[in-house]
Amino acid sequence: MNEIVYLDAAASFLKPEPVIDIQADFLRHHYANAGRGVCARAMAVDDMVRDVRAKVAKFINADANQIVFVSNATDGLNRIAKIITSQTWYKESSVCAVSDLDHHSARMPWHELLKSGKISKIIKCELNKDFNIKIDSVPGVDILVVTAMSNVLGIPQDVSEIVRSARAKNPDVIVIVDATQYVVHKKIDVREWNADFVVFSGHKIGADTGVGVMYIRDSERYEPDKFGGGMVSRIMNDDKWVLQSAPEKWEAGTLPLTQICGLGVALDELEKKRPDLGLIKYLYDELRKNPRIKILTSRESALLTFCVDGMHVLDFGALAGASGICLRVGNMCASWIHQAIGIDGSIRVSVGPWNTKSDADKFISVVNNIVK
Ligand SMILES: Cc1ncc(COP(=O)(O)O)c(C=O)c1O
Repeated sequence: MNEIVYLDAAASFLKPEPVIDIQADFLRHHYANAGRGVCARAMAVDDMVRDVRAKVAKFINADANQIVFVSNATDGLNRIAKIITSQTWYKESSVCAVSDLDHHSARMPWHELLKSGKISKIIKCELNKDFNIKIDSVPGVDILVVTAMSNVLGIPQDVSEIVRSARAKNPDVIVIVDATQYVVHKKIDVREWNADFVVFSGHKIGADTGVGVMYIRDSERYEPDKFGGGMVSRIMNDDKWVLQSAPEKWEAGTLPLTQICGLGVALDELEKKRPDLGLIKYLYDELRKNPRIKILTSRESALLTFCVDGMHVLDFGALAGASGICLRVGNMCASWIHQAIGIDGSIRVSVGPWNTKSDADKFISVVNNIVK
């Protein structure tokens, strides 16, 4: 069998063995629904969910009741847009700021809301010549979407300063941070960021698909967007009920229990071993030697993105794939940054804790075979 070199961690992490083990063990020996049973097994699942929630909270310096389990970052980002714009106090004259660093999942919900008249305008945060958000120029708006790290350029943005700058212009601005790529490489402190909402996906940090995290700073400010089992404590009559408090009020329906179980272990594993960004520097230094390769990222980036002179990115991806290299090519669901750079797509290499120098060497030799 051909050995695969998996250089696509930014798309989805390979799963650490302890994550696979605990999920298999949970499914085999401990499975039951949470929040619904009084038998010991069901209550043990409640304890597991509570413990993982507490672990996630500690991981980003939040309180446990500020942590909501969602399906993934996209789910969280869409829900947040809906939650904000459906509150009785919300004003449709609100202006939202986004940036060209945003993933489609962070920005498209707001363009949809503009089309339906739920916001009045979208403006863009200015980027500097290196495509980082210009902190002093962050506009004074009602809603601000911040991508903490672009999945194409891989540079951490100074979220605290961006939020400070936005709040200096409008203290009431609601800030949403997409931390999906940032969380892999950097410690998050939501208190320090001072944002209203933060989201990330579990599958990009070693957990399974199907679970993500949505941090909500002030749950009391918002009415829920989803209704059903698990989020209501008492039904009085047809349309009168008492809701659970946060976080349960946000979690109608059965949670992805197996994936939550794996998420707790994934966090432990990530804390033990983050991806070695020395490999990205090494790849950067090596790929720079090939005159047909145009690197779009910096040596300090958390990933490496490039184009090949005279070659379509899909052709490169197919050839690299045929040589056992898994990487990502195309617009990476981040069309706006590609448009800002003036290209249609790019080739992205990203590393996880499993990658070694020998993977990097294999990749370099494949690249040098493809791009002569
Ligand atoms: C920065 C960023 N935000 C959001 C997403 C969406 O993540 P998911 O597909 O897990 O919802 C991604 C996925 O690539 C991403 O890189």
